[in-house]
Amino acid sequence: MIELIGLTKQYRSRGKMITAVDEVNLHIAKGDIYGIVGYSGAGKSSLLRCMNLLEKPTRGEVVVNGVELTKLSKEELRLSRQKIGMIFQHFNLITSKTVAENVAFNLKAAGKKKEDIPGRVKELLDLVGLLDKADYYPAQLSGGQKQRVGIARAIANDPHVLLCDEATSALDPKTTESILELLKEINKKLNLTIVLITHEMEVVKEICNRVAVMESGRIVEEGGVYQIFSDPKESLTRDFIDKVMQFSLPDRLMKSSSGTIVKILFREAKAEEAVVSDVLQSCQVKGNILHGKIEYIQDAPLGFFVMELTGEREEVDKAVALLDEKTAGVEVMKP
Ligand SMILES: Nc1ncnc2c1ncn2[C@@H]1O[C@H](COP(=O)(O)OP(=O)(O)OP(=O)(O)O)[C@@H](O)[C@H]1O
Ligand SMILES: [Mg+2]
Repeated sequence: MIELIGLTKQYRSRGKMITAVDEVNLHIAKGDIYGIVGYSGAGKSSLLRCMNLLEKPTRGEVVVNGVELTKLSKEELRLSRQKIGMIFQHFNLITSKTVAENVAFNLKAAGKKKEDIPGRVKELLDLVGLLDKADYYPAQLSGGQKQRVGIARAIANDPHVLLCDEATSALDPKTTESILELLKEINKKLNLTIVLITHEMEVVKEICNRVAVMESGRIVEEGGVYQIFSDPKESLTRDFIDKVMQFSLPDRLMKSSSGTIVKILFREAKAEEAVVSDVLQSCQVKGNILHGKIEYIQDAPLGFFVMELTGEREEVDKAVALLDEKTAGVEVMKP
């Protein structure tokens, strides 16, 4: 659905050249919810804004739904852009217009017949759960409601793609969750491809199927979300994932424990729990769970639990070797 080839964006600022996007190649398939993560200044917004030519690339190609955008005339680009919706961190609503008027504005701009507009506005507001707020002004809405208007407006002209630049960063966790749910629903219902930028891996974990990690204008790692979470290659990727998967054991526990402390990894659909108890029983080793964390990523479990193993030294070693063989892996935290 979206193909970026050798995409480069440079800005000239106070006589200096800044390369915000550096030779990026990226393929986003139809129906993907594609996440782009990176720290501030990595070039995420620049990359996203090149996808609808809000920023004109310095070099490279931007192909959306089979159309090379950089080759289009002004008028052709205007039409192509109607099929690329966008939502923003600060919503960018027209404050002097009501909710219904904000949505109608995009329909009018796209040349929709006047008599068809009210019906379509109603349909859209229903979809985002704001039918009862049609006559409210943006100032009378909560942040989450404003973003719902943003979404209704962005999808008004049945776009192929929805670009989201930190669309939930200004919202509290609960509201974020409800907006992510709405995006997921729209993705399914309308088979809409969604690209979303975020600095929170939590958001990626929640709704994306693929993710790219960006640093200094480049994509340093890219892949399926489960694969990236379970086996990150780059230290930057690991930093992001740690924010979701991190845990710490109190020092006191590590010091006072007389047994062997191991971390047993969970992956995909492996029935680790049964395996663990079988192994411990067969080796006559006792296991005491100290900590555990399981995240569900696209409905597949990913996580670990930390156990203290006690018993004869040889038996404990045998149990660790067996566990390592039969589970997704064991890390000895304290021998
Ligand atoms: N219009 C501009 N003129 C000059 N430099 C710019 C412009 N827009 C962005 N930059 C620079 O390009 C680099 C990438 O910026 P960009 O906004 O794409 O990063 P980002 O990853 O979206 O960051 P954030 O998470 O803070 O939004 C930064 O060094 C920024 O200062
Ligand atoms: Mg940005």
